[in-house]
Formats: sequence, structure tokens, C-alpha cells
Amino acid sequence: MSKVTVVGAGNVGATVANVLAHKDIVNEVVLLDIKGDFARGKALDSWQQAPIDYYSTRITGTEDYAATAGSDIVVITAGIPRRPGMSRDDLISTNAKIVTSVTKSIMEHSDNPIIIVVSNPLDVMTFAAYQASGLDSSRVFGMAGILDTARYRAFLASALNVSPKDIQAVLMGGHGDTMVPLPRYTTVAGIPVTEMIEMDTLDAIVERTKKGGGELVKLMGTSAWYAPGAAAAQMVESIVKNEGRIYPCCAWLTGEYGLNDIYLGVPVQLDKTGIKRIIELQLDKDEKALLYNSADHVRKVMEVFNGMTA
Ligand code: NAI
Ligand code: 2OP
Repeated sequence: MSKVTVVGAGNVGATVANVLAHKDIVNEVVLLDIKGDFARGKALDSWQQAPIDYYSTRITGTEDYAATAGSDIVVITAGIPRRPGMSRDDLISTNAKIVTSVTKSIMEHSDNPIIIVVSNPLDVMTFAAYQASGLDSSRVFGMAGILDTARYRAFLASALNVSPKDIQAVLMGGHGDTMVPLPRYTTVAGIPVTEMIEMDTLDAIVERTKKGGGELVKLMGTSAWYAPGAAAAQMVESIVKNEGRIYPCCAWLTGEYGLNDIYLGVPVQLDKTGIKRIIELQLDKDEKALLYNSADHVRKVMEVFNGMTA
């Protein structure tokens, strides 16, 4: 059984901890925040839910990194979220410093953890954690693809009036409006989605998915947390159970899809070692062009990050 630290006890971090506890698959979840009492309160509230919902996972809150010692997995959600009118990229100057310092503090107390980054702008913040940790890239990756794919699947389930359980899909690219949902790799209980839906409706769903995060920011004044928290917990589950599930995750590419030295969303297999393998799809010309466009966008945000750290 494992120890998981979640850094940032805000909307997403507290949800990751709570969903993980409900899965009852790890011994211990440490919820760390610069606001120590806030983390202690969220942890205590979740622990008091255990006798009702029947789980044994011990959740504690802290501001002290010593309590994270020996973590097997660390989920980083620390940082500021989007407010209306902001893009994820507007968060970079604040969140890059936070993610870098959080990662360094984690590494002082845990030898070889697996780090899952959630903070935005996701692809570049995952790079920041990779750089600050000194870990192998198979142990540092980001959560976005499961969330973005879930949005796409949920929109399709509504449009087709079917269970979301029956929609399987792949989505690639950066966690931004250039992300690439892939209708050719989308099925409804094994049936190609294109046989089930009008192209206009499908195109509209693809566009809505790309702006899915912004839609929620407009509605709530801050970004989402239930689906993001559940998505990060699902990644932890595949690692802890050594399941080798295939999910779209933000991974370091070294030649896959003809791309090098970039964190980008691609399908990967997750097991106890972290990223066991990156799966290369046979994308057609149009799909590749969309993926490269998304990679170009991530590289522009990387330039801002490199400018900050030069
Ligand atoms: P939030 O504001 O509710 O929580 C963030 C928490 O981080 C706060 O409690 C804050 O005190 C804490 N924090 C700030 N600096 C810290 C530090 N140096 N050390 C420890 N804790 C620190 O924000 P929310 O909604 O939980 O979002 C967190 C991040 O996740 C944001 O950057 C947001 O954009 C991102 N996000 C990413 C998603 C994805 O798909 N990758 C989805 C949803 C959110
Ligand atoms: C989301 O997609 C803002 O990245 C966050 O909800």
C-alpha cells in the first residue's frame, strides 16, 4: 500500500484526496498547503466521512514537507486557477515559481516519487516539475487528457442520449484551446461515432470540448474541480494497482510523433513505474497537422517559461 501527497488543498487538491480516499487503495494521503489550517480542515472533514462511506485511507493535512517523507506519488495542484477572462497561459508567472519550489521541497523528503502535475498551464508546469525534480521523465507527467476526453465523452453521451460509460475516445495535444479530440478514434460501444451522429453535431462537440475549461470558468468564476480531481485520482489508481491502463497524459516526448523535447498530451500506459510506454497512433495528415499546431502553441508558452528562468 502506498503513501500519496497532494500539494494544494484547494478545489482540485481536496477533491483528489477525497476521491482517492473513497477508492480505498492507498494507506495514507497527505494534503499539504501553504495554508496549513485549511489543509488540516479539509483533511479532517474527509477523514470524518470515512465512517459513513467506509474507507480506511488516513488523510492528514499539513504545511510541513517533513510530513510528506517517503511519498510514492505526489500530485501537484498548488497554484492559482483561472478567473473569467484569463487563459491558462496567463497563470505562468505565478504558477511556475510555485510548482518549481513545491517540487524542490518534495524532493528533499522523498527519494524517487512519481509526480503528477495538475497546475496550469499544464504542459509547461509539468516541464517545470520535471526540471526541478531531476527525476526520469517516466516518473513526471501531467493530468489533462483524461479530463478533456471526459468532457468530450460527456458531451457525446448527452447528444446521443447514451451512457457515458459506452463512449471511448482519444484526445491529444496540449491542455488548451488547440487540443485535438480525435473522432476517428471515438466509438460508442465499439461503433465508430461517425456512424451514430451528424458531422455538424460532432464538429460542434469537438469545438465545445476545446473550450470546455473556459465554459466552466464563465459559469463559476473559477475553474472546475470534480472532474479534474477524479481524473488525477484515476491516474494514481492505475499506478498504485499496477494496472497499466491506457490514458491520454501529458508526457515528455523524445521522437514520438516526430516531436522532441516537449511535454504534450499523448496516449500512455500507466503502471507502478509511471509511464510504462507511450503509444504512437497512426495519425493521418490532418490529425498530425492539428497535433503540430498544438505543439507549436505549447512551445510558445515554453519560451515564456524559459525567459523567466534564463
Ligand atoms: P485553488 O485556488 O482552489 O487551490 C490552489 C491551492 O494551492 C490553494 O489552497 C493555495 O493556498 C495553494 N497554494 C498556493 N501556493 C502554494 C504553495 N507554494 N505551496 C502549497 N500550496 C500552495 O485552485 P484549484 O481550483 O484547486 O486549481 C489548482 C490548479 O490546478 C490551478 O493552477 C488550475 O488552473 C489547475 N487546474 C488544472 C486542471 C488540469 O486539467 N490540468 C484542471 C483544473 C484546474
Ligand atoms: C480546466 O480545464 C482550467 O485547466 C482547467 O478546467
